[in-house]
Amino acid sequence: MGNGRLTGKHAVITGGGAGIGREAALLFAREGAAVAVADIDAKAAAATAAAIAAAGGKSAHFELQSQTTRLVDTRSKTWANGGLTLSAALFQGTWPGP
Ligand SMILES: NC(=O)c1ccc[n+]([C@@H]2O[C@H](COP(=O)([O-])OP(=O)(O)OC[C@H]3O[C@@H](n4cnc5c(N)ncnc54)[C@H](O)[C@@H]3O)[C@@H](O)[C@H]2O)c1
Repeated sequence: MGNGRLTGKHAVITGGGAGIGREAALLFAREGAAVAVADIDAKAAAATAAAIAAAGGKSAHFELQSQTTRLVDTRSKTWANGGLTLSAALFQGTWPGP
């Protein structure tokens, strides 16, 4: 159970199917964000989204292929809507925060 620190926020997380991205997706959802989980591994993205839903969170998932940037841009407009985007697939250790 989180503290609702991201309630009302939308997040797009690339690499959300495993590792840092998956943990970030679960954490963001626990804090109340609606999370779009993006990964080149569609099954892994679906599994993260299912884990969020099973915990009562709000999520969607989609597969990223070669047009990663364009897809993320498009989905971000729909989902993040000025919210949060975390590229865990190519994590550089920076995140602007909510
Ligand atoms: N784990 C660490 O301690 C650590 C430390 C510093 C940096 N990093 C870097 O952070 C990144 C993630 O690390 P991790 O340990 O979470 O890796 P991981 O392998 O556990 O998970 C990476 C996820 O990203 C997905 N992915 C790979 N390329 C993608 C792409 N182009 N678009 C969308 N999804 C993609 C994979 O399918 C996988 O689900 C890596 O670039 C890694 O080098 C990791």
